[in-house]
Amino acid sequence: MENENLLKLKNAALKDIEEANSVDSLNAVRNTYLSKKSELSSLTSQIGQLPPEDRKAFGAALTEVRVAITSAIEEKMTYLKNKELEEKLEKEQIDISLPGISYEPGGRDPFYVIQDEMIEIFLGMGFEVADGPEVEKDLYNFELLNIPKDHPARDMQDTFYINDNELLRTHTSPVQARTMEAKKGAPVRIICPGKTYRRDDDDATHSHQFAQIEGLVIDKGINIGHLKATLELFAKKMFGEKREIRLRSSYFPFTEPSVEVDINCANCGGKGCNMCKGTGYIEILGAGMVHPNVLKMNGYDPEEYSGFAFGVGIDRMAVLRYGIDDIRKLYTNDVRFLKQFKKMS
Ligand code: PHE
Repeated sequence: MENENLLKLKNAALKDIEEANSVDSLNAVRNTYLSKKSELSSLTSQIGQLPPEDRKAFGAALTEVRVAITSAIEEKMTYLKNKELEEKLEKEQIDISLPGISYEPGGRDPFYVIQDEMIEIFLGMGFEVADGPEVEKDLYNFELLNIPKDHPARDMQDTFYINDNELLRTHTSPVQARTMEAKKGAPVRIICPGKTYRRDDDDATHSHQFAQIEGLVIDKGINIGHLKATLELFAKKMFGEKREIRLRSSYFPFTEPSVEVDINCANCGGKGCNMCKGTGYIEILGAGMVHPNVLKMNGYDPEEYSGFAFGVGIDRMAVLRYGIDDIRKLYTNDVRFLKQFKKMS
């Protein structure tokens, strides 16, 4: 074997390495020139057949060729691997022209929008906000409101009892008694927003949990004119300047006289339509002059003091304002409803 042939082999290998343009093709070149079946390997195994004096020089020549090919392959391999990695990264790069995943900002629940609006209206008239517990004593929920045990009016407000003396309050009216107790005979002008409960079969217009805003004013010389003016202003602020109210006689054990308050229908202006069931009016709340017994039981002299009270359903206000077709939607946190509401408001 002549060195000339070895040189040819080496040049052929270097040329192939030079031309290899992928990691795969370079691996093929390595296989061709350096594997056990390669020409170089078979030449190496033939060293023993050479005359002893030639073996050393030929061996050295073979090694030189192997080293040259190996290092050329290694160098090219590093280059090709880097190149291929770069190409891959380039392909995988984030396409910033693609639209991203957008998260819609949340909105306020219609219930709280309405509640805040109602509170604002009464704060503007000089009311302060009072609070009371949802798990209430029978004493405050009924007895101090002139509804003694076994009074038939209790049937109108059946609820969830914790024990014989404690229950989930059926209205916010117990805060009337609590406030009178706390004010110890001084004038009162409060509202109390809060949750209330009744045993009810839930449907589109009934919910076992709902919410009210209670109002109570006690002072010297308070008459039903004050009640009417206050609630008319509330109705106008809530439903528009054109709204008028009408008082209908009603019954609550803790007020005398008692009234239901209606507003003229915004939809038909009072002519009668589907929304007001042909009556021209929509009922919005219950109210009345504080019953002398209630004043007396809670530390006020009915000869000296008088007052009015009202209780208005917050859910009902939201239903009327936004035309919500099912009261339960206010409690079920259905995102579709909340989104729809966001568009409405
Ligand atoms: N508490 C009554 C109800 O829930 C409403 C009301 C409050 C009536 C205050 C008169 C005075 O039906």
